Amino acid sequence: MQDEKFKPGEGLHLAIIMDGNGRWAKRRGLPRTAGHREGAKAVRRTVEAAADCGIETLSLYAFSSDNWQRPPEEVATLMQLFERYLGTEAARCVKHGVRLNVIGRRDRLRPRLVRAIEKAEAATAQGSALHLRLAVDYSSRHAIAAAASMFRPPGAVTAEMFSELLNRAVNSDPAAPDVDLLIRTSGEQRLSDFLLWECAYAELVFTPCLWPDFGKQQVEEALHVFQQRERRFGALPDAEQVASEGLEAVGP
Ligand code: FPP
Repeated sequence: MQDEKFKPGEGLHLAIIMDGNGRWAKRRGLPRTAGHREGAKAVRRTVEAAADCGIETLSLYAFSSDNWQRPPEEVATLMQLFERYLGTEAARCVKHGVRLNVIGRRDRLRPRLVRAIEKAEAATAQGSALHLRLAVDYSSRHAIAAAASMFRPPGAVTAEMFSELLNRAVNSDPAAPDVDLLIRTSGEQRLSDFLLWECAYAELVFTPCLWPDFGKQQVEEALHVFQQRERRFGALPDAEQVASEGLEAVGP
């Protein structure tokens, strides 16, 4: 019998590329910004679902560095939504032990948004149930280049050291582990410059669900798919590993 306290995503790092707000709005004859507003509600539902499922780290791709190329009105609406979200959700995050953290560049955000980020991060800093990372003005390639430029020889950098630099480069506080499961909504199947290094061994789940329709049911479905996957990290499946234990090790 399943343990009552079993939480399907316990200890996992879940990353989500939230996609499909524009299409959701278009199908209803609404402006794209209406899709983003509805998308903000889905963010709230998903954070609650992740906390309920025992997820340890949730990284949400809210605004990529390439999204600056969108029409100014759309960018302005998104920035307002982020600011409002940080203002209204901080108290709820404190109540539920959620530590809120915005990852990405801050030098191109307007000062009042940076202040809202700093305030929300300070207010929720004691949260230990869920580390919620909102990626704003985020580019994985930029982050990798920034982390590489922090490295000062002598000595070779290891993958672990590089991961630490990368966490520092994007203001991840605390540092986040590698991604276990990445979900992209809306049927698109690409990474779009999100957590490229951290997703080295992530399981990928693509769902046709448009982001504004996403919520607890979709989180649970993706976790169910994840649990059926066999993660090998380049090794053999468990049974074959055991069978070959008698063989002489050849290194490293
Ligand atoms: C992609 O859909 C979505 C975005 C670029 C923005 C994500 C923003 C939100 C989910 C809302 C606000 C978030 C927070 C944290 C309050 P798209 O516009 O590219 O959709 P399309 O591919 O259908 O055009």
